[in-house]
Amino acid sequence: RRPEEIAFGHNMTSLTFSMSRAISRTWQAGDEIIVTRLDHDANISPWLMAAEDRGVTVRWLDFNPEDCTLMLETLPDLLNEKTRLLAITYASNAVGSISDVARATKLAHDAGAWVYIDSVHYAPHGPIDVQAIDCEFLVCSVYKFFGPHTGVLYGKFDLLESLTAYKVRPAPAHAPGKWETGTQSFESLAGVTAAIDYLAAIGGDGGSRRQRLEQAMQITKQYEMVLSERFLRGVTAVSGLRVYGITDVERLDERTPTFAVSLEGFTPAEVAAKLGEEGIFVWNGHYYAIAVMERLGLLEKGGLVRIGFAHYNTVDEVDRLIAVLQTMPN
Ligand SMILES: Cc1ncc(COP(=O)(O)O)c(C=O)c1O
Repeated sequence: RRPEEIAFGHNMTSLTFSMSRAISRTWQAGDEIIVTRLDHDANISPWLMAAEDRGVTVRWLDFNPEDCTLMLETLPDLLNEKTRLLAITYASNAVGSISDVARATKLAHDAGAWVYIDSVHYAPHGPIDVQAIDCEFLVCSVYKFFGPHTGVLYGKFDLLESLTAYKVRPAPAHAPGKWETGTQSFESLAGVTAAIDYLAAIGGDGGSRRQRLEQAMQITKQYEMVLSERFLRGVTAVSGLRVYGITDVERLDERTPTFAVSLEGFTPAEVAAKLGEEGIFVWNGHYYAIAVMERLGLLEKGGLVRIGFAHYNTVDEVDRLIAVLQTMPN
């Protein structure tokens, strides 16, 4: 609602360590917090460490290994009057599942808990409206939406004002300056504006920048669903290939076009290397989503191959990827 609700930082991980330290000063021994198994470790470890420092109990919200979506129906059982915070991902950077963060926030608020959302993976794939979600905090990283390496924090103004920031004495006493430790990367901030202008341009010429951005992210989401459907239908022809996460083409709005896969007869590293030789860049391993890989029993087995599409990819590229996978015997 006001510009002071946005603070910039080094990256999402640093912002979250800093916020977890500040937020946890309000906790008492015996309080509880909730983290999820679907999150990147940047939205888990800072909270585990803060909880340890403050004698706070950590509860885990699980995901369904069948479709890799959060089991939000179990969230009410984890919440109680002692719960202070829910740290939750907007979308998984490993398996692409999108969480119903508005519903999770409502449930957490009913129990009196704050909500801290990691939208790093979701941000390049769809519109975000922090007011509609009503979360206390949301973080993202500009390099994931085609800009420079800078983190962005949204926080409700009253909280950013009332919480104690770890800062040097001469630094600003008010939000957002009190959260922006040291000298900002001004050259990156210029790039942040450019990245947002670039995205807004996808949304056409009419309306405010916010409206164009909203439109751009809706267009992006619709286009990426076309790529996802092409991929999911295509891979059914690749024998031995398994997609983890949502595979139902009727549920594409519940996932980003990021797919974690395994191919029988090959390690994830071998698949990634082969695709790399063909000029197709994917990732293998756990991509810091270690709780996801642990839950799937794959952490010690080399994780999975992650194939991620963005709005600049084409249907032809999806087809070429599938054609290469089909040449790999198993
Ligand atoms: C879902 C998610 N959260 C957090 C991070 C960490 O972001 P940063 O590199 O800005 O610390 C990443 C980075 O890949 C991510 O994918």
